[in-house]
Formats: sequence, structure tokens, C-alpha cells
Amino acid sequence: MADVRRFELFAKLVTERFEAPRIWDIAGGQGRLNAALTALGREVTTYDNRWKRLPNLRYEQRFLTLDEPCSCDLLVGMHPDDATRIAIEYAALHRIPVAVVPCCSDNSMSYKPWVRYLAELAEEGGLDVAVVDLPMTGRNRVVIGVPKGNS
Ligand SMILES: C[S@@+](CC[C@H](N)C(=O)[O-])C[C@H]1O[C@@H](n2cnc3c(N)ncnc32)[C@H](O)[C@@H]1O
Repeated sequence: MADVRRFELFAKLVTERFEAPRIWDIAGGQGRLNAALTALGREVTTYDNRWKRLPNLRYEQRFLTLDEPCSCDLLVGMHPDDATRIAIEYAALHRIPVAVVPCCSDNSMSYKPWVRYLAELAEEGGLDVAVVDLPMTGRNRVVIGVPKGNS
């Protein structure tokens, strides 16, 4: 069972680390991370395909692909599963920062190797990488990538 505090804890970390006014929340499910970041003053758009979600959010009811024109300052994702790799690749392509909290892999790797793999993917994409922990139970590692020269 994922920690119920995960959205508020991640939103706090994100807003402390990044000034980014416009944030895309990738694989945001019902939009709870969106709501937590919006409460902290950011303009947030969630990408996911859920029809059941919190009211009054900016929400694109579709999956993010690398073809999406970029109009954000930061990508974030809480337990984004199949979208984790796309979030990192998208950030590298568009030279914007990214912060993801990985959960399940898309290639059957177990958790720790998957986190290492994602950090390497971000490095290879030209991002400076840090991996930090959220103070919560469960899958709590945050992979942060910032385009080299912007950190
Ligand atoms: C484990 S759920 C996490 C939902 C939410 N972030 C949370 O922590 O409760 C993974 C989500 O990834 C979404 N997803 C998978 N691939 C995606 C993509 N390319 N773009 C956007 N969302 C995607 C799924 O629809 C699902 O809602």
C-alpha cells in the first residue's frame, strides 16, 4: 500500500527545489499531486487517461508522448509506471528538469536496479542526476534530473 502522504511530501520537495511556475504531472491518476502542487501556488497540468478524477484541475485526458509540444518548466511523476521512462526522455529532449518517484518498471527490473537504470538514462540524456529519499514508507526514492549547466 502506497503511503497516503506521498503527494504532499513530493509537492513540498518539488516546490523547495524548483521555481518552475508551470509543471506537468505525468501519470497523475486522479490528480492528487496536481492538487498538492496547485495548493502551493504552481500551475499544474496532469497527463493521464482517467475519466474519474478530482474536480477543477487542468487535466489532459491522454498519455504523454515524446511528440507533445513542450509548454512547461518541469516534469514530475509519482509512481508513474510505464510513463517513467517517457518523463525522463521527454525532459532530456526538451532540456527541462524532471523529478520522478519510480515504482514498477517497464522492463521487469526489480526496484533498486530500476532506479539505477533511470538515473543512468537521465545521465545519458545530458541531465545532472540526484537521487534523494522522501520521508515516507514504500517506494520513496526520487530521481531528479536537471539539464547540465542549469543546476
Ligand atoms: C500506479 S498509477 C499512479 C497514479 C498516481 N500517480 C498515484 O501515485 O496514485 C500509474 C499511472 O500511470 C498512467 N500512465 C501510464 N503510462 C502513461 C503515459 N505515457 N502518460 C500518462 N500516464 C500514463 C496510468 O494510467 C496510471 O494512472
